[in-house]
Amino acid sequence: MQATSHPDVGKVLLDGDTISRRVAELGQEISRDYAGRDLFLVGVLKGAVFFIADLMRELEVSCEVDFMAISSYGSSTDSSGVVRILKDLDESIEGRDVLVVEDIIDSGLTLSYLLRTLRARQPRSLEVCALLTKPTRRKIEINCQYVGFEIPADFVIGYGLDFAQKYRNLPYVGVLREELTVGAG
Ligand code: IMP
Ligand code: MG
Repeated sequence: MQATSHPDVGKVLLDGDTISRRVAELGQEISRDYAGRDLFLVGVLKGAVFFIADLMRELEVSCEVDFMAISSYGSSTDSSGVVRILKDLDESIEGRDVLVVEDIIDSGLTLSYLLRTLRARQPRSLEVCALLTKPTRRKIEINCQYVGFEIPADFVIGYGLDFAQKYRNLPYVGVLREELTVGAG
C-alpha cells in the first residue's frame, strides 16, 4: 500500500480499508438477494475492473463474469451519452440474472444507454451495482440497486478510476487537484 497520497491528489476521499469494508457489505447484500440463483456479472471496462475483482471475491452465490468496453464521446471530464460498444459480451444474456458493475455514475448517460442495450436482449433481471455515484450531477434517472458511496461532484481518481487513462492504480479514491483538469478535454 502506498503510504502517502499522490501529489496530483488534492484529498483522499475513500481510503483502501473503507473501500474494502463497503465492498464486503455489498457482496453480502448481493449474495442474500441472489441466493439460489446464478448471477451473470457484467463489468464495464476499464474503470470497474478493480471493483468487480474485489466484489466477486465477496460473493457467495454462483456467478459468471463478462466484460463490455464502451467509449463515450465527450470531453475527458464530461460524457455526452453517445456511446459506442468497443467490446461486446461473449455470450447471450437472455433469461439470465444480470448485474452490471460500474465504477461511477456521473450524469448517468453512459449507463442509461448501456441498460437500454442490455434490456433489449431480454435478461430475466437487470440491476446495477456502482461503487460510486454523484447524485448532484445526474442528467437522467438511473435505478441503481447497489451503491457503494455517494460522493460530491468533484472529479475523482484511483481504484480503477482514471483521468486521461492515468491513476487507476492508486489504492484509494481521491479528488484530482482541480488545476489539473483545467483546459482538459
Ligand atoms: P456518465 O455517463 O456521465 O455517468 O459517466 C460515466 C463514466 O464517466 C464512468 O463510467 C467513468 O468512466 C467516467 N467518470 C465519470 N465521473 C468520473 C470521475 O469523477 N472520475 C473518473 N471517471 C469518471
Ligand atoms: Mg473512464
